Amino acid sequence: EQKDKSDLLRAHELSQTLFHYILKNTAHGKIALEYLNNRGFSLKLMNQFQIGYAPSMRNTLTEFLHKRDFLLPLMEQGGLLSKAGQQQYVDRFRDRIIFPITNARGKVIAFAGRALGDGQPKYLNSPETILFNKSKTLYNFYQAKTEIRRTGRIVLFEGYADVIKAWSAGVLNGVATMGTAVTGEHATTLKRYADQIILCFDGDEAGQTAAIKNLSILEKMKFQVYVAMLPDQMDPDEYITAHGSDRFKKEIVDNAVTATKYKMLYLRKEFRLNDANERLRYIRSTLKIIAELESPTEREHYLKEITNDFDYSFESLKQEMFEIRQEAE
Ligand code: GTP
Ligand code: MN
Ligand code: MN
Ligand code: MN
Ligand code: MN
Repeated sequence: EQKDKSDLLRAHELSQTLFHYILKNTAHGKIALEYLNNRGFSLKLMNQFQIGYAPSMRNTLTEFLHKRDFLLPLMEQGGLLSKAGQQQYVDRFRDRIIFPITNARGKVIAFAGRALGDGQPKYLNSPETILFNKSKTLYNFYQAKTEIRRTGRIVLFEGYADVIKAWSAGVLNGVATMGTAVTGEHATTLKRYADQIILCFDGDEAGQTAAIKNLSILEKMKFQVYVAMLPDQMDPDEYITAHGSDRFKKEIVDNAVTATKYKMLYLRKEFRLNDANERLRYIRSTLKIIAELESPTEREHYLKEITNDFDYSFESLKQEMFEIRQEAE
């Protein structure tokens, strides 16, 4: 087991070097390199994140590992190769951009492979292996750790491309999950480094719903949670490409709203607010969110926001919120 692990770690390290070399220095990598350039990934970024390219041939990595005496069945279990019949192996990643995924010590334990065009699936990841546990792993955590500790703040993105582009914009405390929700294990690890977390998810419906879904576990873990809001249909990567680093930092990250505020805004979409009845139902749902807050000053803060945004008196809102609190007891 220990020997298997160290062999697999070594194999991942060598594979990463190979993929990175192929991208930058061979004819096979040319189209991938152009693709990355077009998306605004500079050479410096490719180096920083050790981005690579797995060519379209069936046996590049298989041959490479075989020549170095790695056991191919182990390489298959480790997610680097696929089975192509009895004792036959082929490369798992073919014609894909490779994003190496490291553990908290900076060792490569898996890869995410992105199709170059509209190929499906868009992302092909390593499977769970003896090295790679998705629910424990955070993309870029190793590199972001220093800045997370220094600022006491984490920026959580949905995608690898977002983390990388944000890094180039000067946001050095960005991490991403492996395309899944935040787990208790993620939260426990992060809590050792910071108390504040900013969710910076895609501006589409899926991203906003994902933000809502991730809020509760993070709040349970006593993070101060903020949500950065992007224009509809843009993700952080696209926003930075379209509007630049400064606007991303000032208008998106610095304008992140509190979790409570975000829930209140998110709820608005479910009601037609110019209808008096629906407006009252919206207010009541919002008061339920506020009623759950522990701190009286926080409750007052958000009650005042509703008072400002809608034409109801502070007193009646407060009264109704207290009734909701009593019903909840
Ligand atoms: P780009 O198109 O390269 O910019 O990727 P993206 O990060 O914007 O992708 P998207 O917003 O569609 O998805 C966010 C994240 O979900 C990705 O970074 C992946 O982690 C995950 N994801 C998306 N598509 C797939 C898929 O086809 N398979 C898997 N396993 N994960 C995916
Ligand atoms: Mn998306
Ligand atoms: Mn996206
Ligand atoms: Mn994207
Ligand atoms: Mn406020």
